[in-house]
Amino acid sequence: MFNVNNEFKLTNSHDCLVIGLFNKPSGLEGVTAEADQLFDGQLTELVKNGEISAKKKAVSKIHTFGKTGAKKLYFVGLGHEKELDFETLREAFGRLFKTSKTEKWTEAAVLLDTFTSDAVELNDAAHALSEALAMATYEFEGYKQKSNEPEKRIENLTVYSVDEEGEVEAALEVGYAFGKATNSARTLVNTPGNLLTASDMAEYAKKLAEKYEFEAEILEKEEMEKLGMGALLAVNQGSAEPPKMIVLKYQGKEEWTDVIGLVGKGITFDTGGYSIKTKAGIVGMKSDMGGAAAVLGAMEIIGELKPEQNVVAVIPSTDNMISGTAFKPDDVITSMSGKTIEVLNTDAEGRLVLADAMTYAKHHGANYLVDIATLTGGVITALGLHTSGALTNNEALFEQVLEASYEAGEPIWRLPIFERDLERVRSSKIADLNNSPGAEGHMIMGGAFVGEFAEGTPWVHLDIAGTATTGKDHDLGPAGATGVMARTLALLVERFEPIK
Ligand code: BES
Ligand code: ZN
Ligand code: ZN
Repeated sequence: MFNVNNEFKLTNSHDCLVIGLFNKPSGLEGVTAEADQLFDGQLTELVKNGEISAKKKAVSKIHTFGKTGAKKLYFVGLGHEKELDFETLREAFGRLFKTSKTEKWTEAAVLLDTFTSDAVELNDAAHALSEALAMATYEFEGYKQKSNEPEKRIENLTVYSVDEEGEVEAALEVGYAFGKATNSARTLVNTPGNLLTASDMAEYAKKLAEKYEFEAEILEKEEMEKLGMGALLAVNQGSAEPPKMIVLKYQGKEEWTDVIGLVGKGITFDTGGYSIKTKAGIVGMKSDMGGAAAVLGAMEIIGELKPEQNVVAVIPSTDNMISGTAFKPDDVITSMSGKTIEVLNTDAEGRLVLADAMTYAKHHGANYLVDIATLTGGVITALGLHTSGALTNNEALFEQVLEASYEAGEPIWRLPIFERDLERVRSSKIADLNNSPGAEGHMIMGGAFVGEFAEGTPWVHLDIAGTATTGKDHDLGPAGATGVMARTLALLVERFEPIK
């Protein structure tokens, strides 16, 4: 895909040549100034009258009619040099590659050195470029009879840059791995519930394990019964589909120590159960395995990059259905941890399946736990559709998650858990916990419930109910699944420092 080349000349022939353009009152510089001479100063004119724009993320095109080796020049606006940051650059490249898709490019070259500043180094620019290429050109194929015609895609991207140590090439590969794994997570989330059952998800995980040599364990219903996973089993009780507890282990250290547990909610469809959702609220609930998809996406990146870390991924998977055998409000169930739970709302099923998954992650040696889930509508009320909610019992672990989310451009915001919140989670008169202590502070109630199963192990909870999907096209992808948190989790793992 990428071809790094350090011998740029304006006479080199390409279909499209991409150049970064900072907003500078002093006029055009470098290659752009050289090109301007070939055009007798007309580029300067076009910049002046705004037809070529240096505004952040603006993409402008000119035809060269043989004056340069490239048939078309694309200028990507980067704003003022001092203001450029990694995220803006990634989004600017996203815009560019969206254009590439509509214009059906197959070959192009990028002058990477024109996209760097004091704050954005060459390797960062390379990562931003390849990640954006993968993400912005993503499309969910869908199931239309006519969708099989292959789309023209960029097959060859020349990246002009000095790359003495091969670092640019490596950064391009890393960014591409991040982008592609995000797309894998998106496809899982976009796939409807009838075509992605718990068994299908387990098959997917097994294939991933084979490809990257992870250890895989898929627990069947009988084994769950033996282990006493009463919470996951209760949610599955109304389903015709068998549940799966999916475990993937990646060992990047000599010893199985400092193990990071990634626990992802894998509800393949959430009807709400007997606490049934409304006819409007139920549509889109195929995305209730967004947490599982994020974990699988992160594992794909981990498989590609092989960091020196230990990771256990645990995904509890089932759908949440209604039938004569389904669990009901008022039922009391016993989780694997031994904690009993009064079910007040069968639609608060995510915290139930996560409860057993958290315990099982600890059983596999997890010393740190991060759970990711489309858990509550409450997070949308609290934080809107662009920010994922977070909770924690450990400042130091949270700091590391925050740092990773910042770098991935996937914002999170932390809400508190106070003693009085825990009192509400523990307020059942007949069981240890109740799964729905009322609408106030929904997101906190959901997450705090899950935190009860960390039992003191450092833990961060990420509620992605508002961010796992989007109704709108954006710079880095189309409407639909976002693949949110796959990259954050992978970065967390890659950079992880054990907590003393
Ligand atoms: N899967 C839903 C949460 C959800 C809502 C995800 C909107 C994506 C978009 C979850 O299982 C749920 O139904 N949560 C309830 C909890 C309540 C019944 C305690 C909620 O948030 O309304
Ligand atoms: Zn639910
Ligand atoms: Zn749910």
